[in-house]
Amino acid sequence: MRKQIAAANWKMNKTLSEGEQLLKGILSGMGDVKDHQQVVFAIPFPYLLKSNETIGAKKNTFVAAQNCHHKTSGAYTGEVSVDMLESICIKYCIVGHSERREYFSENNSMLAEKVNLCLSKSIVPIFCCGEPLNIREAGIQNEFVEKQLQESLFHLDAEAIQQVVIAYEPIWAIGTGKTASSDQAQDMHQHIRAVLAQQFGKDIAANVSILYGGSVKGSNAKEIFSQPDVDGGLVGGASLVADEFLQIIQSLK
Ligand code: PGA
Repeated sequence: MRKQIAAANWKMNKTLSEGEQLLKGILSGMGDVKDHQQVVFAIPFPYLLKSNETIGAKKNTFVAAQNCHHKTSGAYTGEVSVDMLESICIKYCIVGHSERREYFSENNSMLAEKVNLCLSKSIVPIFCCGEPLNIREAGIQNEFVEKQLQESLFHLDAEAIQQVVIAYEPIWAIGTGKTASSDQAQDMHQHIRAVLAQQFGKDIAANVSILYGGSVKGSNAKEIFSQPDVDGGLVGGASLVADEFLQIIQSLK
């Protein structure tokens, strides 16, 4: 079975002590996940090192960076490189979250560079894609997401694409409380897998984990995750509340 993942995205929330309290609360409540399941915490840069220590050797549980820079090193004040992440043993990194695309002008070709750099350091990129409301209303969401995949991932070879985790996050569902229905999620996830199959082959596409993101909560996670092409979730708001995120972890297939 391909990896089923509950990924928390804390965004720009929590102080160090608040974050530690939240993390410890979740770790103590979650028990051991199954072999094919993973739990990932994408937390603010300043806490990565400490949180990695807090998690220790807990089975299939990792911290992630929320972003990395698309160049290897140099005069980029305020940025964080994949070499830096590798040097503190970070195994996952979110790439191309819609907030990064919107507020920091990240584009598909820049994101392709980030994906390459992550993979070169064996850091799993959680590559985000998803359409804004006007595209959904125009009924051209499939083409929109396909272009994002083509321009940021299709240069990879069959081996590399299987290292990538894709997160489909319709922008109109992020932080709005308006979740995509489980059918809408499944339709897009199926489309993404079909597009991957066309490019890389069916067997390869079947190995790629595709997460859903956008107002996932404890109460709706089970239904969404039960869809055949949904392999877990990337969770913002509800990942900031221990009991909610625990319920989401328990909803993994
Ligand atoms: P949300 O955010 O769960 O608060 O909608 C999801 C995300 O942006 O990754």
